Amino acid sequence: MVESSIHKIKIEQIAEIEKELREIHDVDVLLENILTFARKIVNADAGSIYEYDSKENLLKIRYSQNDTIQSRLAPGEKLPFSSYRMIPTTQSISGYCALSKKIVNIVDVYNLDEFIIDASGQKTRRPYEFNSNTDNVSGYHTQSMLTIPLIMTNGRILGVLQIINAQDEQNNVIPFDTDAEYYISQFANKLGSIYEYAYLTRMNIDRLVKMAGFRDPRETGAHVERVSSFAIEIYDRYAANKKIPENEVKKFRDNLRMAARCHDVGKVAVPDEILKKEGRLTDDEYDIMKGHTCVGAQIFTPVENDVDRMVRDVCLHHHDRWDGGSRGYPGNFNYMDYIPETKMPHVIEQELCGTDIPLAARIVSLADVYDALRHKRCYKDEWTVEDTVQEIKNQSGKQFDPELVEAFMQIKNRLEDINQSIDSL
Ligand code: C2E
Ligand code: SIN
Ligand code: SIN
Ligand code: FE
Ligand code: FE
Repeated sequence: MVESSIHKIKIEQIAEIEKELREIHDVDVLLENILTFARKIVNADAGSIYEYDSKENLLKIRYSQNDTIQSRLAPGEKLPFSSYRMIPTTQSISGYCALSKKIVNIVDVYNLDEFIIDASGQKTRRPYEFNSNTDNVSGYHTQSMLTIPLIMTNGRILGVLQIINAQDEQNNVIPFDTDAEYYISQFANKLGSIYEYAYLTRMNIDRLVKMAGFRDPRETGAHVERVSSFAIEIYDRYAANKKIPENEVKKFRDNLRMAARCHDVGKVAVPDEILKKEGRLTDDEYDIMKGHTCVGAQIFTPVENDVDRMVRDVCLHHHDRWDGGSRGYPGNFNYMDYIPETKMPHVIEQELCGTDIPLAARIVSLADVYDALRHKRCYKDEWTVEDTVQEIKNQSGKQFDPELVEAFMQIKNRLEDINQSIDSL
């Protein structure tokens, strides 16, 4: 049995973590944090978290962490991006876990028991195999593995949490014992309701984005997803370069993901003949188009919380330029005065430049242009990666914040991987 003082500390730790997770509004940030904390609770070296997509019947890997592999990378560098997904069947461990909604505790994945015995003592033949592909590619050795179903309050499966290689104080790999199993299931039991709140927030944002998408076929879900993923990656690298404290990073990226998704929702108020025009806009049309920044900001006014504030800032300022050049907009224009479908001033009265432009907006500006260039639009062709990277480099200190361009250059290959992966969704 657990020593009671340790037990008390563990339960308090879990309650503390639960409180922290409740403050996260973004599903992706939440999933990543769930994985981090789960590993911490039972001192596991590695792990992954999967989300179940009921629409497509797919179990999708959302985050993977691995301290051993991570420690071999340079500071600020990340594990390779994984978009692994599968139809859940009982032949895989995570699939079996999702379908049976049972915890799977394995001592050694390379030495599986032929039978599994469930909580009621019933003995059945093991349906699943361990898939050693990831180990073969990474050179990592998976041994002990605890796989936990994550279940929503309505009983539906949310996903699967898989943690790997529990360690003792000397970092020797040990099995997950019954205490570990107990703490993780205590933790997992709380996650359904926390996830649901974030899920609803995401769903409402998605609905707003979808509405904008009905009007503007270019602003597809894929475009929005890409811009928000690029933005997070650029910020992460920037934050690592600037050694921004972890707590601040967590909170910022939580809001950033949602803000980036919303950056162009103001386009709902741009007239069809402009929004859907094949070919270049005239100056007058472009001046009306510019109003999408102010409309987006109006949608998120009044500001009720940090998320709203960031969404509003990003909507309003994602087309302002670092050098304050006159092609940036809307500058310091009073956005509440803007009347939809009218022209913005052709030349802005009061420019905004440098760090007066909120960081989130500077990031989304870069992410948005990367995506706009890499994809075909009704008014332009797709640019090559090389040309796109060159253009962004050229715009350092002009259109874009030089420190963000620097972060971008460090992760450009990763961004392109994400670009390709989200393209095929
Ligand atoms: P968008 O297509 O999402 O483009 C976002 C931003 O990417 C643009 O903001 C611009 O900064 C950058 N960008 C796009 N294409 C190019 C390019 O070929 N070269 C360079 N250097 N940058 C590029 P911008 O210009 O403020 O435009 C905002 C939105 O207005 C665009 O969003 C698009 O929806 C619309 N738009 C802009 N110009 C035209 C046009 O000539 N025709 C049509 N139909 N729409 C346009
Ligand atoms: C877009 O370009 O805005 C989205 C469509 C796509 O390129 O996949
Ligand atoms: C413009 O129409 O002047 C801006 C769009 C672009 O840079 O391609
Ligand atoms: Fe825009
Ligand atoms: Fe955009």
